[in-house]
Amino acid sequence: MAKLTFLGHASFLLEGGDGGRLIFDPFLSGNPAAAAKPGDIKVDYILVSHAHDDHLGDAYDIAARNDALIITTAEIARAAGAKGCRAHALHIGGSHRFPFGRVKAVPALHGAGIAGGHACGFVVEYGGRNIYFAGDTGLFGDMKLIGERHDLDLALLPIGDNFTMGIDDAVAAASFLQARQVIPYHYNTWPIIEADPRLFKEKVERQAGSQCIILQPGEAHVF
Ligand code: NI
Ligand code: MN
Repeated sequence: MAKLTFLGHASFLLEGGDGGRLIFDPFLSGNPAAAAKPGDIKVDYILVSHAHDDHLGDAYDIAARNDALIITTAEIARAAGAKGCRAHALHIGGSHRFPFGRVKAVPALHGAGIAGGHACGFVVEYGGRNIYFAGDTGLFGDMKLIGERHDLDLALLPIGDNFTMGIDDAVAAASFLQARQVIPYHYNTWPIIEADPRLFKEKVERQAGSQCIILQPGEAHVF
């Protein structure tokens, strides 16, 4: 069992499994959709997909408050270490088993936000579930490979367009991934990424066959 709470924009809290609590892309300070403050977050691990401000966010602050381990790509791990944080560097295609389960860094078609780096997504085993967090990404054909290599219970997909996939490309992504459930994010934080999650839900359930759960910031999904 696992409980996933949407904290707004691209940030999620994952808890309920053995081995610790995780947060993804903890952008809370300055996030108009944030459902929590950095000081409220109690976690053991922080997963960072890339170094743009709306993803790296409060990672260093939350890591310092919790003595949490940052799991991210090599260049961000090095920067985190220079800030005095504990960090574990993964890179694209590589995985590592942590006390809660395995994390694999997978490709994302997006900028790194740090010199020499790469953006990534993650496939995470947690609480007996397999979760794909896409990070920021455009649609790419190798999402089909991610779906073939991992029996996904849940896929978290950006739908806000402009910086990432929009709704129709996210529906195509869901068709490639074949996760049992999908949750949209990275929309409506600002006007530039306005999108209607109900339209995504209608299309993805009809065209990809995945059940779609729409979470408001602060809402949780148990699966
Ligand atoms: Ni980005
Ligand atoms: Mn972003």
